[in-house]
Amino acid sequence: MGYKDVYESWKSDPEGYWMQQAEAIDWDQKPSKALFEVGEHLYEWFADGLTNTCWNAVDRHVEAGRGGQVAIIHDSPITGTLHKITYADLRNRVARLAGALRAKGIEKGDRVIIYMPMVPEALEAMLACTRLGAIHSVVFGGFAANELAVRIDDAKPKAIIAASCGLEPGRVVHYKPLLDGAIKQASHKPDFTVIFQREQEVAKLNDGYDFDWHGFQYGVEPADCVPVAGNHPAYILYTSGTTGAPKGVIRHTGGHLVALNWTMKNIYNVDPGDAFWAASDVGWVVGHSYICYAPLIHGNTTVVFEGKPVGTPDAGTFWRVISEHNVRSFFTAPTAFRAVKRDDPKGELIKQYDISCLNAIYLAGERADPDTIEWAMAVSGKPVYDHWWQTETGWTIAGYPVGIEELPVKIGSPAVPMPGYDVQILDEAGQPMKPGELGAIAVKLPLPPGTLPNLWNAEDRFRKSYLAHFPGYYETGDAGMIDEDGYLYIMARTDDVINVAGHRLSTGGMEEVLAAHPDVAECAVIGVSDPLKGQMPMGFVCLTKGVNRAHEEIVRECVTLVRDKIGPVAAFKLCAVVDRLPKTRSGKILRATMVKIADGAEFKPPATIDDPAILDEIGAALQGLGYPKS
Ligand code: COA
Ligand code: AMP
Repeated sequence: MGYKDVYESWKSDPEGYWMQQAEAIDWDQKPSKALFEVGEHLYEWFADGLTNTCWNAVDRHVEAGRGGQVAIIHDSPITGTLHKITYADLRNRVARLAGALRAKGIEKGDRVIIYMPMVPEALEAMLACTRLGAIHSVVFGGFAANELAVRIDDAKPKAIIAASCGLEPGRVVHYKPLLDGAIKQASHKPDFTVIFQREQEVAKLNDGYDFDWHGFQYGVEPADCVPVAGNHPAYILYTSGTTGAPKGVIRHTGGHLVALNWTMKNIYNVDPGDAFWAASDVGWVVGHSYICYAPLIHGNTTVVFEGKPVGTPDAGTFWRVISEHNVRSFFTAPTAFRAVKRDDPKGELIKQYDISCLNAIYLAGERADPDTIEWAMAVSGKPVYDHWWQTETGWTIAGYPVGIEELPVKIGSPAVPMPGYDVQILDEAGQPMKPGELGAIAVKLPLPPGTLPNLWNAEDRFRKSYLAHFPGYYETGDAGMIDEDGYLYIMARTDDVINVAGHRLSTGGMEEVLAAHPDVAECAVIGVSDPLKGQMPMGFVCLTKGVNRAHEEIVRECVTLVRDKIGPVAAFKLCAVVDRLPKTRSGKILRATMVKIADGAEFKPPATIDDPAILDEIGAALQGLGYPKS
């Protein structure tokens, strides 16, 4: 069957299609049906089945006689170490860790926050939680204590599992003080923490509250997998929205297992036993789905890479890892290739490695610019497939289903919708648009298995953010079009979310931080184009009347404030003091116009602009920051 047949077979019988895909998963009790409607426009998948994520990702492969296969390869050019963990080892390690968590009172439904760098123990912590039916929430290491505190207050975890430190090139990230600061700041207090001590930095533990990762596992009874309902949350992952308060995306157990398993063959074209590598971080959805869960559920070997595309030690790292670990499918963000291309434009370093093991490269997380795709194809000699999805969906909305059919590649398009997704381009009134016309990208409800059923403790926000604008549809927040052949093009976000080096950030969240500066009366943050990171945040602040301190000093404080409150990952370095912000007569800040001026794009001020002269002032401030770039 080709792609069109598979897509049609889903469309004509979604229930039958997903029940068949569910056969590939081990159930303690099979679901009686696939889709459950649980409220107006609210859906759950496989809700009355019983299963366990960790069993499907680990134990069942051991039971099937594949315990000797390597499950996780930890390759850390930062520490110069390489470790391999077999499925049998992984089962024992995870069962012991789960047993220790249980001995400390963690049970099904309890939340556990995980704050760890790219070490196998991060995956083990995730798996130990799902083994018990505890709900994990991984927080990216590049976030500051304040962001961690916000997540602690929302998820109300019983425990936090962290490492003593993370390692960035040339810098140790001291996790323990960040963790202590976050717990101090949060109103909710977890019962205890578990600290994985790394040899690069041993953290000071508080007796009776912080438990050593190894010590607390000593002598405990390993835990078996706890069967949970198909609609039991496996995890919560916070992602950026319009405001500074992150959204807690919920992932239900049953649909997650079924959908992720489906993607490994049909999209990434790997078979059990093959090595698969997603060069991302466990703190992001790509890390959840494609470093941890999907490859393990499908019985692959997953690579946990602690390094950067460049500088650890050079731009040949990707090719070395692919070659050394026999990687068959490789997934990364376009920004990573832009970094490699900048350091090694002619692809000299790739010549040192035999990458004949590699079938294809997959890109996602941000717009893949044609130059980068063409460069990656030329130097690697491999097909490069763009695919489009989001934290909310957990897996591909549109992509090249290579395991089904090799569709012609159209550079600039993440191709076609996957089974389960009825993607439509809608106008403001919610009417479907014609091929080639630009509009809001929406997906007809219900969304497929594995996607978010709701937001954690925030159903109203869920409805408002995703369901209210286009009744009967899920609003993706992206704008784009579909061509005559059914290929999708993603053009821009329709909200205040920006994408910096593949990291999803909220300009609204940064504005909230800047507005808290005592000298700032008003501010705006926009995302400007950047040749390396795709977008970079840029802030404009208007000062409170009477403040006459040096502008450079205030700018420096603003930059530090965003780094301290949100974290280094915000990459907030561009900021200017201006007298006024351009607005409409009704007082709406003209952020989109400011972006156009910064990018050097053609623009026409909206007819509703209050005072067009302010645009010249913004232009002058931009020049001071070196924008637009020539
Ligand atoms: N813990 C602590 N700090 C982190 C971090 C982590 N896990 N990850 C990033 N940071 C810090 C970086 O050290 C940097 O700090 P600095 O301002 O002191 O230099 C800052 O956050 C910005 O990080 P980032 O935007 O990722 O830039 P970078 O310099 O680390 O890497 C590239 C830049 C060009 C190599 C980038 O292209 C890249 O590979 N990014 C990751 C892409 C990715 O995996 N995206 C995930 C979605 S698929
Ligand atoms: P995240 O939730 O961090 O995965 O970010 C999701 C957002 O990143 C999407 O809504 C898009 O705006 C953007 N994005 C992800 N993949 C792509 C892609 N292939 N092309 C264009 N934009 C993308």
